[in-house]
Amino acid sequence: MTATHLPAISRSQFPADFRWGCSTSSYQIEGAAFEDGRGESIWDRFCATPGHIRDGSSGAVACDHYHRWPEDLDLAQSLGVNAYRFSIAWPRILPSGRSAINQKGLDFYSRLVDGMLERGLQPWATLYHWDLPQALQDQGGWASRETVDAFVEYTDVVTRSLGDRVKHWITHNEPWCTAFLGNHGGGHAPGLNSYKTALQVCHHLLLSHGMALPVIRRNVPEAQAGITLSLHPIVAATDSPADVAAALRHDGMRNRWFLDPLFGRGYPADVLPLLGADAPDMHHSDLALIATPCDFLGVNYYFPERVGDAAGDGQDHGPIATTVVSAPDVERTAFGWEVAPQGMVSLLQRVQRDYAPAQIYLTENGSTYDDVVSPDGSIDDPQRRSYLARHLLAARQAVEAGVPLKGYFAWSLLDNFEWAEGYLRRFGLTYVDYATQQRRLKASGVWYREFLHR
Ligand code: FCB
Repeated sequence: MTATHLPAISRSQFPADFRWGCSTSSYQIEGAAFEDGRGESIWDRFCATPGHIRDGSSGAVACDHYHRWPEDLDLAQSLGVNAYRFSIAWPRILPSGRSAINQKGLDFYSRLVDGMLERGLQPWATLYHWDLPQALQDQGGWASRETVDAFVEYTDVVTRSLGDRVKHWITHNEPWCTAFLGNHGGGHAPGLNSYKTALQVCHHLLLSHGMALPVIRRNVPEAQAGITLSLHPIVAATDSPADVAAALRHDGMRNRWFLDPLFGRGYPADVLPLLGADAPDMHHSDLALIATPCDFLGVNYYFPERVGDAAGDGQDHGPIATTVVSAPDVERTAFGWEVAPQGMVSLLQRVQRDYAPAQIYLTENGSTYDDVVSPDGSIDDPQRRSYLARHLLAARQAVEAGVPLKGYFAWSLLDNFEWAEGYLRRFGLTYVDYATQQRRLKASGVWYREFLHR
């Protein structure tokens, strides 16, 4: 199937109780960065350094969702989705990370959640989508074990306030990105370059997840709680033994490093010894805490990775020494990410086979292309529409293959602040004109709406 042929697919081909949604995150859409007592986040600080964000921008205004949320929830409702995934900005709730609660921050999310419920949108809250209070970073950030306790405190405050209405909770979004992009690659906040720090951060993120789960369950009657991982099918660049071994190591760090401990197996035994002195410090009981059972696993699926052995290329790939190889002649989004819907099917089957989670939700999936606004104001985005349709077909195939896939959330409702790329990458089903803050549904959004009504 090519980018121009749309598969015949409709919502009616999915189980009646399948959840349909779209996803957003606080720093990427809210703006109002200094309003109503919000504290500084690591992304505010990171964006302030020239060179960090490709277009020199920040999320200070973003989609101005903080003020325009009723319109945005109307838009989500008009699509026909019955769930809405959003994240809570920790610095709005506890501006200095701990102790002093900012009631105005809680009030904002309370209004937002009421707005969802009024519109028939089931709220799915992510507690951490990357916007750590800067005050905590100043004390060591996620590399410090104290931040684990701070996260548990924050979870307690938020779930006490919203738990009467929000039943679906995601502790972390993509801990791999938080840890490695932020602390090893340096391209995300807080912009550090240490593999050892990234591994310690990783461990603390997982630990904080496990320690937050009982708090969520205590405060939220009938809670459904889980974590969202970014998972990738990993393919060896060639069938040489060195590349095959590299692909296995890479899978160990990208996927199994998270899945194994979450499902009670500890850190992968083939990877841990490679880390040497970079291995994370941990306490005796940490692995048991990390393995606290979840109600569901959230999977963000974007692309597969082709991997080769990096030994001897002279660059620092960390102790795993693999490199992601660019495959020729594959379909790609404007970001260069490979488009591979079948990879999503095989990934979900693999997760099901190896870990057997009770429920899986695709909590993000989407694409970026260079959108053009026509003179009549419409945005025809056939590639994104095709991407969406083919991934929905893949989701259906996964369900048919017996994967306990229970829902799909499209990334994203709106174009937004795409981290280090600033506003240069548009992932929305809705086009945002940042000069006027006008929203216009793209053709892909119209297609999703029609899909949801069929
Ligand atoms: C994911 C992030 C999300 C967005 C998409 C494109 O890794 O969770 O915030 O940036 O990629």
